[in-house]
Amino acid sequence: MKPINPTIEKLKPSGIRKFFDLANTMENVISFGVGEPDFDTPWHICENAVYSLSKGKTHYTANRGLLELRKLIAEFHEVRYNQFYDPEKEIVVTVGGSEGIDLAMRTLVEEGDEVIVMDPNYVAYLPAVEMAKAIPVPITLTEENEFKLKPEALLAAISPKTKAIILNFPSNPTGGVMTREDYEKLVPIILEAGIYVISDEIYAELTFDGEFASLAQFPEIRDQVIVINGFSKAFAMTGWRLGYVLSNPFLSSQMTKIHQYIIMSAPTPAQYAAIEALLHGLPDVSSMKAEYLNRRNLLVSRLNRMGLKTNMPKGTFYVFPNISGTGLDSETFCSRLLEDQHVACVPGNAFGEHGEGFMRMSYACSLDDIKEGCDRIEAFLKRI
Ligand SMILES: Cc1ncc(COP(=O)(O)O)c(C=O)c1O
Repeated sequence: MKPINPTIEKLKPSGIRKFFDLANTMENVISFGVGEPDFDTPWHICENAVYSLSKGKTHYTANRGLLELRKLIAEFHEVRYNQFYDPEKEIVVTVGGSEGIDLAMRTLVEEGDEVIVMDPNYVAYLPAVEMAKAIPVPITLTEENEFKLKPEALLAAISPKTKAIILNFPSNPTGGVMTREDYEKLVPIILEAGIYVISDEIYAELTFDGEFASLAQFPEIRDQVIVINGFSKAFAMTGWRLGYVLSNPFLSSQMTKIHQYIIMSAPTPAQYAAIEALLHGLPDVSSMKAEYLNRRNLLVSRLNRMGLKTNMPKGTFYVFPNISGTGLDSETFCSRLLEDQHVACVPGNAFGEHGEGFMRMSYACSLDDIKEGCDRIEAFLKRI
């Protein structure tokens, strides 16, 4: 047989999955590994999908998604985030934020372009750049800078070949956020360079201690920004596979072409569920957020007390403790923790070279699990 596409063959499988395949074979595991809410989707949201099916809403929708849903998305972004998008021309409803990342990358980037990515960052970005045959240019985010992107680092990374930068704040895996003041310093640089920003804002609703900020709030570069968002994290709807992309009309129409050919339209029952989520689901988001906040506070204080230095994350449901003081690299630390204590965490190096020395823990699990998991980690630290 002839060889397959070498770009795909060279892609590395996600470092997260490997760990969880192993954890799944064990008993009595406390998992801090999953990147999804432990809450089920609130029932009234599910019910609207069921109702839509009972009414025969089993067909394709418009390629961009139901207009009713797009109008609600536009309103939600205006009210909550001060972002303004035309539901007719600037919104595409996608199969999760994941499809949005793919659409943005394919639309903007061609072979040989440079794309700036943060290190550490979400595992899907680097493969997306590689699949586009583009060149990833990493910027190291450091614990000292609270894992924020600094203007000096951005300036240094930009070259004439730079096409785009991918940002994700609040960030998976670090929990870092950017404030409006932080972004203000980046705006002139982005404007001058004329580059695009793919801004993955999937954790926007899970911003603690302050207001969510976005580069799309700055009118001077708004048209250079593609916002990725969705229902997975905030509304506990990972399995529904529903997200969306916000961008200027030209970019939006280009992305719609890809979406039209590869997807047609996002799942119809999920779109009806999303309508209910936006109409009546915000109190659910607030109560889940309050629960995450309690868990975060407990987890961060336990980790710091046991000697694993941990920044207070200002968003998401992840913490990123520094484990370098143990003398073990992140993969060895997490493997031994799993084998010895049946506690599953993700090694920091799964998120990039500069994730080494850290591990990612998700607190999308119960307070009891957090307490028990921390007891086990403490016992493990005493033994190494
Ligand atoms: C930063 C980030 N972006 C995108 C996604 C994908 O989300 P979705 O379920 O909307 O495809 C995830 C999921 O973990 C994520 O952490």
